[in-house]
Amino acid sequence: MNKPNIAILGATGVVGREITQIVDELGIEFNTIKFLSSPKSAGTKLNFRGKEYIVEETTPDSFNGIDIVLASAGGSTSQKYAPEIVKRGGVIIDNSSAFRMEKDVPLVIAGVNDDDLRWHKGIVANPNCSTSQLMLVLEPLKKFGFKRIIVSTYQSVSGAGLAAINELRADTEANLNGEKFENKCFKKPISFNVIPQIDVFCDNGYTKEEMKVTNETRKILHLSEDVKIACTAVRVPVFRGHSEAVDIEFDKNISPDEVRSILANSFGLKVIDNPDNFEYPTTRDAEYVDPVFVGRIRKSLAFDNGIALWCVADNLRIGAALNTVRICKSVIDMDLWGNHK
Ligand code: A2P
Repeated sequence: MNKPNIAILGATGVVGREITQIVDELGIEFNTIKFLSSPKSAGTKLNFRGKEYIVEETTPDSFNGIDIVLASAGGSTSQKYAPEIVKRGGVIIDNSSAFRMEKDVPLVIAGVNDDDLRWHKGIVANPNCSTSQLMLVLEPLKKFGFKRIIVSTYQSVSGAGLAAINELRADTEANLNGEKFENKCFKKPISFNVIPQIDVFCDNGYTKEEMKVTNETRKILHLSEDVKIACTAVRVPVFRGHSEAVDIEFDKNISPDEVRSILANSFGLKVIDNPDNFEYPTTRDAEYVDPVFVGRIRKSLAFDNGIALWCVADNLRIGAALNTVRICKSVIDMDLWGNHK
């Protein structure tokens, strides 16, 4: 079998580094690999599978002969280079929100809707981190018919990049030392605080992040407008890992035991649910590991045919890098590269 030439765009960023590591962990086979950044980090040395690589400055010609690009360099960078990649016969698997809702761009969670990869035209989008972990939980329950889904997220700062991680650390130290701190990444101080805003506000009073969860969930699970979905997205002073409280109303009756058993046997999930023994997943359980952890599965007191649950995951893995590399693996396994020319 032919092996692809791979490029990692944004290789020096928080997610790009993670992607590089997971390409190795998942044993992705390639012919060549290159690492790309902005001029700022070009020249940085990077070790990968025992070999030293020099990070290169990105130009359109960086993509000559490249078959698959794993991109995590921000929306405007993706918008700039995606046409150049596609023009040269490559496929871009993009982490930014630039193309997610475009009609001819599949939005994919590996293990959930890989079949959507079959209609890609050179661009594949990786969903928002909060959507990603939720999809692995919802997909196995789809057969019971969704009526209403309400999600509240508790999102760590790493979702906002390296500067946000540094701001939580510096603000916490300043706060403990009684010093003044000027917050830049967040609208409010992030240390010892909980901020009910992620991204900008839309006309309907929800934030862009909240609307991403609503719209992306509908696209990935192919749900009609009849299914009502709402989200409140909140930033919490946690470095790594997103948590979500989810209430689901189904068409059909389903018991917590059934949900527990279905989820325990589904791809990418791990159920920890024994409250009598204080066993439930916390954000720290999810750090640096692959599964989406689910617990607190119970009958909803608010909905007939309703289930309430709690899920946590590493936002940099399943919410970004892991899914990107899993998509890359599916694109290779399903022989969907080099076919769109
Ligand atoms: P650089 O390290 O040179 O700034 P993060 O989200 O963690 O800040 O990472 C963003 C990643 O995207 C980095 O690797 C960054 O490179 C890269 N990047 C940012 N802007 C561009 C650009 N215009 N072209 C190529 N890569 C870019």
